[in-house]
Amino acid sequence: MIEEFHRVKRLPPYVFAEVNRLKAAARARGADIIDLGMGNPDMPTPQHIVDKLVETVTKPRTNRYSASKGIPGLRRAQAAYYARRFGVKLDPETQIVATLGSKEGFANMAQAITAPGDVILVPSPTYPIHEFGFIISGASIRHIPATGGQTRLGTADAGAEFLRGVERAVKHSIPRPLAVVLSYPSNPTALTADLDFYTEAVQLCKRLDLIILSDIAYAEIYYDNNPPPSVLQVPGAMDITVEFTSLSKTYNMPGWRMGFAVGNERLIAALARVKSYLDYGAFTPIQVAAAAALNGPQDCVDEIRRTYKSRRDCLVESFARAGWNVPPPPASMFAWAPIPEEYREIGSVEFSKLLVEKADVAVSPGLGFGEYGEGFVRIALVENEHRIRQAARNIKKFLARSRETMHNVIPIPQKASR
Ligand SMILES: Cc1ncc(COP(=O)(O)O)c(C=O)c1O
Repeated sequence: MIEEFHRVKRLPPYVFAEVNRLKAAARARGADIIDLGMGNPDMPTPQHIVDKLVETVTKPRTNRYSASKGIPGLRRAQAAYYARRFGVKLDPETQIVATLGSKEGFANMAQAITAPGDVILVPSPTYPIHEFGFIISGASIRHIPATGGQTRLGTADAGAEFLRGVERAVKHSIPRPLAVVLSYPSNPTALTADLDFYTEAVQLCKRLDLIILSDIAYAEIYYDNNPPPSVLQVPGAMDITVEFTSLSKTYNMPGWRMGFAVGNERLIAALARVKSYLDYGAFTPIQVAAAAALNGPQDCVDEIRRTYKSRRDCLVESFARAGWNVPPPPASMFAWAPIPEEYREIGSVEFSKLLVEKADVAVSPGLGFGEYGEGFVRIALVENEHRIRQAARNIKKFLARSRETMHNVIPIPQKASR
């Protein structure tokens, strides 16, 4: 057999693996690791959604193969969500597909539209499937720097810089790029976009003949009463855009695997066609319960948002007391934290490994989200406030202790000038 398969060869070693390995080893030794690494929601799914699943499972025929593009009631529920939340009118027949999670939906869309060698513009850092969904499909990636970090300042400058990056990349890429990925609120940087940004992005992409793939998985996880918009609110965006949403974070349903692609009919038809060859759709009771989530009372979403907000405030305050200033994210379930200055030189992977080994705290190294993620770590708000405070205390001790002890182990720059 050949040594390595073509597609597998195109996938680099998993950056998070080293930290995960240390985390597993520390746990095996009995360490109580406070895990702020993976963005895996820890709160339960709201009870009325679980009840609907249980009720549906007992009904006849729900065990049969379902509909790949989603049952009609679910697609209608997603249309109603877009209408009330964004004022965007969608045809459930031609402009909506339910996907097995937005990650899989995104990857299926990449398969549907990519010819080998196509160039795709992807922000860096970003959620890995934005890049690897296309790499697996045979595309080449061109990164557009999107470092963010100072998310409180708004996105006007960062947005303009990103769009200049898109324009430059189109000018210098052969073949001409096919599509650009937009994802706000961003995982990992928590950068948000406003409608002015989307308006400019749509104008630019129409001029450059680029498809827009927008991922708004965190559209409902926002703070400060500032709901993130959809790019489809921009008049004419529908001509070139598909947008992905997810129930994973909004309703604490990550393991249920339920998301949506909505937008341009031609792109949605391409996705539906490829998907129809690959899957039979989610288990019908999951689809019925997902429709109940979208159609039902939304106070559970307010509650989830409130919990993340208190955790965010707790993290920012307690980490500041520990000597680590973390900018408060305006949205998403992540803080994007610059590595403390004295550790910047060792990079995000080594720093994350040290945090596991010396402070019993797991975070995600920024490098795992792309080359421009270096210099940062991502801290997920997936432990309760008590545990976040404990993480801060551990880190405080680690930071205080490390200057005296760690220089024997890692090359910490001298602080003679201070
Ligand atoms: C930006 C972004 N998009 C999509 C996803 C995947 O969500 P889903 O569970 O719907 O596949 C995530 C999950 O972390 C994410 O951060």
